[in-house]
Amino acid sequence: MKRICIVGISGKLGQYMLKHALDRGYHVNGVCREKSVGKLDAVMAEHGDRITLFPGKTNDRAVIERAVKDCEGVLTVLAPWGVQQYSSGTAQAVMDFAEPDARLIFSCGWHITLDGKDQYSRTFRTLLAVASKLTRWLRLVEIDDQVLACNLIFKSDTKWTVVRGSDLEEGDSEGLPVWSEHVQDPVLASNKTRRIDFALFMVEALQNDALIGKAPAICGVRTESAQAHAAMA
Ligand SMILES: NC(=O)c1ccc[n+]([C@@H]2O[C@H](COP(=O)([O-])OP(=O)(O)OC[C@H]3O[C@@H](n4cnc5c(N)ncnc54)[C@H](OP(=O)(O)O)[C@@H]3O)[C@@H](O)[C@H]2O)c1
Repeated sequence: MKRICIVGISGKLGQYMLKHALDRGYHVNGVCREKSVGKLDAVMAEHGDRITLFPGKTNDRAVIERAVKDCEGVLTVLAPWGVQQYSSGTAQAVMDFAEPDARLIFSCGWHITLDGKDQYSRTFRTLLAVASKLTRWLRLVEIDDQVLACNLIFKSDTKWTVVRGSDLEEGDSEGLPVWSEHVQDPVLASNKTRRIDFALFMVEALQNDALIGKAPAICGVRTESAQAHAAMA
């Protein structure tokens, strides 16, 4: 059976990715904090024979080394928690220890830019600047570290894809999100994706080599902007 690893498996995005991965027949290795293992009790009871958990912080290099061994793909939730290089430590460990040919898929938000050609509204820039300063001052979140993590990924020679999520909402799946290279592209104007479909995009990317070396910005396939774009095509 094909084996993949999900780093950050107990979070909202992680649990959706786990569901999609199980649906596709993968055996899943998962990394999550020790205190979060209990969040997976229900799924472990049903599918425990196809899930192997590696409790630990996602930037613990020894944990990541064991978890990604023999995995053909690694899905990583980049979460910049605390002031401890959490995202960049996680990304570097995944890149250092994953199998040489493994597909590496990382999650982040629209604020990350691969080529500097993304254009952001003044409101977006202001909110990001305020949130970055405030959360860092509170020592809760280090948004700059997610930027650093992605820059490390972009420079690596691994088979990476960085999936840039729009604003997220809960709800049933609407199908595979649309994507584009830059956040200002009209197809993305609605700026809304179901979290379950963000996860779907990440899991589908494992099999999509056209996404290697790309940072797709995604948006729900049923949103107004995606539908308008489809009608024009
Ligand atoms: N939320 C949005 O609107 C939004 C928009 C665009 C992109 N994104 C991207 O989506 C991804 C995850 O989003 P999400 O909303 O689904 O997040 P989430 O699943 O709620 O949390 C992400 C991860 O952070 C971990 N975590 C939470 N608190 C922590 C702490 N204090 N220390 C260490 N780890 C902690 C969680 O693990 P535990 O289970 O152990 O708590 C989980 O694995 C991120 O890459 C983010 O950049 C989010």
